[in-house]
Amino acid sequence: MFKDKKVVFSGVQPSGMLTLGNYLGAIKNFSAFSDEYHCYYCVVDMHAITVRQNPAELRRRTYDTLALYMACGLDPEKNVLFVQSHVPAHAELGWILDCYTMFGELSRMTQFKDKSAKNADNINAGLFTYPSLMAADILLYQTEMVPVGNDQKQHLELARDIANRFNGVYGDTFVVPDPYIAKTSARIMSLAEPTKKMSKSDENENAVIRILDDKDTVIRKFKRAVTDSGCEVCRGEGKEGIENLMSIYSAVTGKSFEDIEAEFAGRGYGDFKLAVGETVADSLAGVRSEFARLSADKKYLEDVMAEGAGEAARAAQRTMSKVRRKLGFIEPKRG
Ligand code: TRP
Repeated sequence: MFKDKKVVFSGVQPSGMLTLGNYLGAIKNFSAFSDEYHCYYCVVDMHAITVRQNPAELRRRTYDTLALYMACGLDPEKNVLFVQSHVPAHAELGWILDCYTMFGELSRMTQFKDKSAKNADNINAGLFTYPSLMAADILLYQTEMVPVGNDQKQHLELARDIANRFNGVYGDTFVVPDPYIAKTSARIMSLAEPTKKMSKSDENENAVIRILDDKDTVIRKFKRAVTDSGCEVCRGEGKEGIENLMSIYSAVTGKSFEDIEAEFAGRGYGDFKLAVGETVADSLAGVRSEFARLSADKKYLEDVMAEGAGEAARAAQRTMSKVRRKLGFIEPKRG
């Protein structure tokens, strides 16, 4: 069905609840890719176990993450949606790529350094080789484009280096992927510290709007958003808080900054915060009700996962056969 299309792959951790920043900056735009690209979106449960997980929670979050992506508009008829551990080729290629990834390279990864500092009692080998598994995710599907956040750029660079190294030794085997960092105006900042990015894992819940927050919560959080002591809705020195609210309002309504200034001229921050809160809550209401409907239907989610894993596994096998041949592994006889 997708034969001539280029491939997009992205992975998402089944951990933490996604934020308004994830939605406006990324997921909301993913559904548009499927016209032009063959898109794979994978819930990376194998990456998740590099830090200790509660099994019941991991299982629930895996279902929820899939349901949330679908609720944000990813249609399983037009995208391959699947769970990483359902396609064993990820682990298989991950091991192979471990042997083409250097200790020094992995040691330089900033995410490894950060996570080891945070999990000092569990600096396991999986945490260290996390980027080779991520490279395997991407290279298995001959991916051209990987939508990721800035924090994953270094991992993607490494995936490119691994692909080039392998291709250099064995001849063209993998497509070398490019990152796609959404260049949206919607860089969404924390509501508590507007010079910091809104982060999934912020300890202050008031700083973060979750895609699944209910209307009252969204409005309350916007009311409490940190702003300056002025009263004019406009951009300027020291007005990062207001500017952030303006970007959010602009991203949701499509209005320009000038329109927004005109709309709220002389009306003060209180009015503006309420308007942003209500508009955001209304725009998320559809996602929230769709999520509720989908997440109540486990059977359907399992069907989607199975369908996605089947298709992903077929594509992955094509790459694996090539890799085995190049490496000098004997292709196992099937059937
Ligand atoms: N490491 C990514 C993150 O934490 C998740 C991920 C795993 C990923 N495999 C991937 C992202 C492949 C893009 C492509 O966000």
